[in-house]
Amino acid sequence: MPAAKTFYVTTPIYYVNDAPHIGHAYTTIASDAFKRYKRMQGFDARLTTGTDEHGQKIERSAKKAGKSPQAFTDTVAEEFANTWKNFVFGIDYFQRTTSPQHAEMVQELYRRCKANGFIYKSSYTGYYSVVQEAFVQDAKEGDIDPESGQPLELVTEENCFFKLSAFTDWLIELNSDPSFLQPETRRNEVLAFLKQEGGLKDLSISRTTIKWGIPVPDEPGHVFYVWFDALTTYMSAVAGTNLWPADLHMIGKEITRFHAIYWPAFLKAADWPLPKRIFAHGWLLFDNNKMSKSRGNIVRPEPIRQAMGADALRYYLLREIIFGSDGNFAFDALVTRYNADLANGLGNLASRTLTMIHQYRQGAVSLDGEASPLPVSETISAAIDAYERLDFSRALEAIWNLIGAADKYIVEQAPWKLAKDPALADQLDAVLRNVYNVLRVVTVLAAPVMPDSCARIWKLLGMTTALEDERLGALEEGAGAASRQIPPVEPVFPRLDMKTIIAQLD
Ligand code: ME8
Ligand code: MG
Repeated sequence: MPAAKTFYVTTPIYYVNDAPHIGHAYTTIASDAFKRYKRMQGFDARLTTGTDEHGQKIERSAKKAGKSPQAFTDTVAEEFANTWKNFVFGIDYFQRTTSPQHAEMVQELYRRCKANGFIYKSSYTGYYSVVQEAFVQDAKEGDIDPESGQPLELVTEENCFFKLSAFTDWLIELNSDPSFLQPETRRNEVLAFLKQEGGLKDLSISRTTIKWGIPVPDEPGHVFYVWFDALTTYMSAVAGTNLWPADLHMIGKEITRFHAIYWPAFLKAADWPLPKRIFAHGWLLFDNNKMSKSRGNIVRPEPIRQAMGADALRYYLLREIIFGSDGNFAFDALVTRYNADLANGLGNLASRTLTMIHQYRQGAVSLDGEASPLPVSETISAAIDAYERLDFSRALEAIWNLIGAADKYIVEQAPWKLAKDPALADQLDAVLRNVYNVLRVVTVLAAPVMPDSCARIWKLLGMTTALEDERLGALEEGAGAASRQIPPVEPVFPRLDMKTIIAQLD
């Protein structure tokens, strides 16, 4: 058998100036869901996440915490790694920018850019935003950083410059391809930025005013600008594998410029392959403001997991908010979704169906028979189309429509009536089989988003296949068995009391 084709997904690597919040969880969960979807299509799909540990912002946070930068970042990086263990159930690559192997690759990127003539030294004066770790073009004295409300800082430095200006036309062409950067709104913004008068300015990629960074080769006193350092993580994380170039960089919209402009230019200058696709999703808002440490309106994922389980948050975030748009996060909406879609929707369909199979057929369901009247194949194609576009919400909507159709079908067919008449035994078998089949299909389709709960339902369905074996492509071919014996029924999504949960979370 030939080796499976790889599919490589990345999340941003998060700053360690704060512990993980649900904004970080949002990107990581979406990336993991997409990776799982690709894996279920037969790809050898991998995910990289990690922590961005250098730069002024981190240096200052460490100082404030009374720790050395290394001790400070060790603690927070571990907290990130542990959070992802609980929310994505294992990650393939967790890369810290303080790892030696990463530093080597950053230096190699620089050497190649330099050898190809794209690096020079010059002095620069400009206004710097520490929160964004970027110079702000056309800023003047007294300007504030829009994200933090802090004043910009005037900085003069002798720096190494990257000839970004040489790439303006090439970047316009690259970003004109709709398959490279999505969604459309972000692509239009990037194109507008690239087409501004005078094109791009060169970019300072070293700092002499800070120490906490990767040393620039042959430039004593210079450390790399954090973004030159951070972006290279996507490659250093998978050094020695055949995963690069990435198939998908998943990011939040505020860092689009770094990914769609700087990163491809660095790679092009170094003569290294480019990532294939960038998707910049919207912001999770809380009380209609972006959730961020600087604003102090942070929701943490861990208490939610303890109250409702990781899958409840995964489902809510990907179902409630159209991927690509901003969306408000609200505890009551989270509980409402859980009770309506998981406890009453999927959970209830599973328990009532499996209970009937026990009650009427001693736990045996026969799987051979005529085609189902339920819209199963339509749902499969709708969900797969939507996943492919990263439209998680639509995919889940299509899946839950099938659950709704199955609920209605049960009411119409009234299996409890069929069970009373032995002459209708075949009809009863067909109803049980069709609904069982819906459960099988919806739990496979929803597994990228809710891996843990769907695997638990598979067990209740008597399915022994592991996630990796339950290939999406084979879904329509049926259960792959003539009949199945199911184990005792267990509840999957216990109903939650709104007041109790909100009290626990707020
Ligand atoms: O920017 N809504 O790190 P960061 C949605 N280290 N997504 C959010 C969010 C919110 N309210 N808050 C954070 C950095 N995110 C750099 C990245 S990559 C080479 C370097 C998610 O800790 C979203 O993915 O500020 C956003 O882009 C990312 O976290 C920013 O994390
Ligand atoms: Mg940020």
